[in-house]
Amino acid sequence: MTGETHLSAVTCTAPVNIAVIKYWGKRNEKLILPINSSLSVTLHQDQLKTTTSVAASRDFKEDRIWLNGREEDINHPRLQSCLREIRRLARKRRGDKEEETAPRVLSYKVHICSENNFPTAAGLASSAAGYACLVYTLAKLYGVENELSEIARQGSGSACRSMYGGFVQWLMGDRDDGKDSLAQQIAPESHWPELRVLILVVSAEKKLVGSTAGMQTSVETSPLLKHRAEAVVPDRLKEMCEAVRQRDFERFGQLTMKDSNQFHATCMDTFPPIFYLNDISRRIIHLVHCFNTHYGQTKVAYTYDAGPNAVIFCLEQTLDDFVGVLRCCFPPESNGEPFLKGLPAGRATLSDELKMAVDIEPMPGGIQYIIITKPGPGPQLLHDSTLHLLGKDGLPRQWA
Ligand code: DP6
Repeated sequence: MTGETHLSAVTCTAPVNIAVIKYWGKRNEKLILPINSSLSVTLHQDQLKTTTSVAASRDFKEDRIWLNGREEDINHPRLQSCLREIRRLARKRRGDKEEETAPRVLSYKVHICSENNFPTAAGLASSAAGYACLVYTLAKLYGVENELSEIARQGSGSACRSMYGGFVQWLMGDRDDGKDSLAQQIAPESHWPELRVLILVVSAEKKLVGSTAGMQTSVETSPLLKHRAEAVVPDRLKEMCEAVRQRDFERFGQLTMKDSNQFHATCMDTFPPIFYLNDISRRIIHLVHCFNTHYGQTKVAYTYDAGPNAVIFCLEQTLDDFVGVLRCCFPPESNGEPFLKGLPAGRATLSDELKMAVDIEPMPGGIQYIIITKPGPGPQLLHDSTLHLLGKDGLPRQWA
């Protein structure tokens, strides 16, 4: 397409979330209905976010999508589900409010352009932020508001939790049509201001077994997964909600680690087994337990998704010490990249006792870098049109 086109464009951002009670396993593959409820912390978009622009124009010949600078197949079934469902909702809303004339954009094709400010498929839940952002941006374009987590869920299960900030639960629901399988905020991001989240990037490589395929095999073969969903998660979720409400780090941290460990145990119980953790992930687990034992309380907690990167929770007052310990055990290799990104951490002088307590063989370069962040808000609409990723001609800006 050449020249300028008359278009309506909207740009939004959406956050990554990290589950502390994991979702693993579907009871309905198409609608993405889970076998258990889950709970996550939404991470701050100052450090990790997806930005998406959607433009609609009567001059566009077809729907198109660009992800991180590359044009991708718009016919991807999950993408089509989200587009279809949000357009359906917009039409329904139009029907409900008869006085309103049809938003003309609804009959136009759309161009979608999306970018992450973090590595895709590195176990950092990029699909969650991506689908949450897509659904939120389309909703703004078409002027729809409700039922958005239900639509984001059909892009990627964990995406429904990225529709809210702070602490979010995804209730599994029991209906066959998924109308009650929704995300819900249990506390806003301001609820626990001292909470810090560290992402220890140990490998930026693409994962071996993706979540979708992995959980499918687990549902088919793991008796432990069935037990987990039926007998462990319901009580654990209630306890986790209480720990969050009371800002009880001891309980929050213990439950987070136990749930991560059980998720990885179900992966091992899957046949053939799935291994997401590597040697560095296991060393970090050991280190966290040594650190906590030294202090006689849970000061730091780890959790791992479908990849080897660790996500660590701690309180602000523990941050400098724990980062100091990580530096000691995984001395940064100077490859030009900063070791610490995101929120600042001070240089701590570690006591000899602490050094003794975490006495593991140093492994230079084991951790590539650390992103320090905290709980943050849900998706945001950007009002500054200079931030659109699509140019006036409806094509990604860098190509225009
Ligand atoms: C380990 O949401 O990526 O991160 O629904 O098939 O897209 P699909 O899976 P996805 O699975 C996330 C799994 C997890 C745990 C979690 O985020 O709860």
